Amino acid sequence: MSVTIKFLGHAAFTIEADGTTLLVDPFLSGNPKAAVAAADLSPDAILLTHGHGDHLGDTVDIAKRTGAPVVAIVELANELAGDLPDGHPVSDINLGGTATFDWGWARLVPAWHTAVSPSGTAHTPGGLVINIGGKTIYHLGDTALFSDLALPGQRERLDAAIIPIGGHYTMDRHDAARAASLVGAPVVIPCHYDTFPPIETDVAAFAAEVDITGKRTIVLEPGQETEL
Ligand code: NI
Ligand code: MN
Repeated sequence: MSVTIKFLGHAAFTIEADGTTLLVDPFLSGNPKAAVAAADLSPDAILLTHGHGDHLGDTVDIAKRTGAPVVAIVELANELAGDLPDGHPVSDINLGGTATFDWGWARLVPAWHTAVSPSGTAHTPGGLVINIGGKTIYHLGDTALFSDLALPGQRERLDAAIIPIGGHYTMDRHDAARAASLVGAPVVIPCHYDTFPPIETDVAAFAAEVDITGKRTIVLEPGQETEL
């Protein structure tokens, strides 16, 4: 089955297969590179790597409007459950945990970063290993380079990795190229760059450095998509 990954700007993506759309890190309002308005999205689930404002974004508004379940690490999930109507489905996994749905599953894995939500909830950031439509996609979240980025690919055959490259708040493009090798996915999609001046980088240079290792870097402009 084909899976379509669409870049919405910064670290926000939709991942769609067979009519089911997942929304990851929906920072749209206030995102100078947002490709869509939050009001135009109708996801079947919202998955969060962490609750920094540039990832949590429009989660509550979209979840309230659509009823989409939200997956987030437990402390952040508890905060969100309090912001959403009683009974709204919120999956409060912790690192290593898997949320299972009829479309597939999402597992939260470690990332090296910090996080406090805009409302003040301290929590540990993660990456997301997402399985849908028979494909497995690893969104690294915000992270520095560390060797355990290799572990998800030792358990699952990864089809694509979404990797932050902008530096300053995450690893820079040089470390990100090393991360791409550690992760081992054949397709690499860069994100978290050029949204704001501190994270401007040379994405073509990143792509060139990754591509010589035999992987395929797919650079998406906000609003562009690719099919796996
Ligand atoms: Ni962050
Ligand atoms: Mn971020």
